[in-house]
Amino acid sequence: MVKTTISVIKADIGSLAGHVIVPDFLMELARKRLKEGVQKGIIKDFHVANAGDDLELIMTHDKGEGNEEVHKLAWDIFNEGAKLGREKKIYAAGQDILSDTFSGNVRGMGPGSAEMTIEERKSEPIVVFMADKTEPGAYNYPLFKVFADPFNTAGLVIDPNLHQGFTFVIQDIKRDTPHYVALDCPEELYDLLALLGSTGRYTIKKIYRRDGLVAASVSTDKLYQVAGKYIGKDDPVAIVRAHSGLPAMGEVLEAFTLPHLVAGWMRGSHIGPLMPVGMKDSRCTRFDGPPRVIALGFQVSNGMLLGPVDMFEDVAFDISRKRAMEAADYLRRHGPFMPHRLDDESMEYTTLPGVLKKLESRFSDKEIVPTGKAADNSDSAE
Ligand code: 13P
Ligand code: 13P
Ligand code: MG
Ligand code: MG
Repeated sequence: MVKTTISVIKADIGSLAGHVIVPDFLMELARKRLKEGVQKGIIKDFHVANAGDDLELIMTHDKGEGNEEVHKLAWDIFNEGAKLGREKKIYAAGQDILSDTFSGNVRGMGPGSAEMTIEERKSEPIVVFMADKTEPGAYNYPLFKVFADPFNTAGLVIDPNLHQGFTFVIQDIKRDTPHYVALDCPEELYDLLALLGSTGRYTIKKIYRRDGLVAASVSTDKLYQVAGKYIGKDDPVAIVRAHSGLPAMGEVLEAFTLPHLVAGWMRGSHIGPLMPVGMKDSRCTRFDGPPRVIALGFQVSNGMLLGPVDMFEDVAFDISRKRAMEAADYLRRHGPFMPHRLDDESMEYTTLPGVLKKLESRFSDKEIVPTGKAADNSDSAE
């Protein structure tokens, strides 16, 4: 059986007219360098896409996950692109490049990555989700629906091949070093939800069928943990396999029909709906959003990628987009108020503490009665 690794490595290395889209010259650079990567035998095949301002390198190879050569190929593209971007003065050039030196793989250096190694089945349909203006926990809700909710995935009930359920590997992303826990579903469904509901802390890393077959992989890289301050959102990617003993492609996509609320949007500081869009709408404009997700479908065939199919381009998702914009419009009316603006803990890594610091010394343990100075001033002005 052919063993293939799918590596999706992504970074925001600069964009046009604000945090909106990856410029063509960076897409072209990525294609050129990946083509050379194929010629050198580092990767087998690739597809380059943009999720808004994030440059997405979808690659296949036979070198396994976390491979130095493959990660270096991506890292060099991001660095060369950032340099070019700085010369051309594009916006936030080099945004996600947080290290000067490469140390084996891109983890902890700014870019995000989702990878999985599969034994290709007789036919191997996959979909790659790529989001902009949000964080890894954004996939908790839809991937839970796909692999654990029988109201979403008919196959969990009626297909004997997936009836036994799935194992979710969850990562606690708030710890300094990665910590994981594996929970079996349906038996531990309530424990699973107790974690997955905390989207800012616990994120799905991988999902396996009960016989060990890998079914999904998510990027869990948190930019602020690397940078120690807000520089942009993590804008996560996910790879999901479909069919033949796994949820059907339509069951996978169905989970994105509710534009559920996620953290991100303007300045990475707001709650907004995750809107599924086709490639043509992969650009976050209104209030730098709303957060968006694109989905590219492929057949993996002897290490090569056939496709892509622009999954959310379909009119069937128009109703979800309309719902998303209604929710976006409603939330926007709240302006700087929670819960549209994120809670205090989540704002710790934004630019808000800089503003609050100024006010710190003005707090008193006694209730303050204004002196009326302002009234005096207005009197004397008359
Ligand atoms: P990105 O994370 O997509 O760069 O967006 C940053 C931002 O602050 C948008 O308002
Ligand atoms: P500026 O400080 O360049 O305005 O960036 C803020 C930002 O990235 C929010 O989108
Ligand atoms: Mg950006
Ligand atoms: Mg982005």
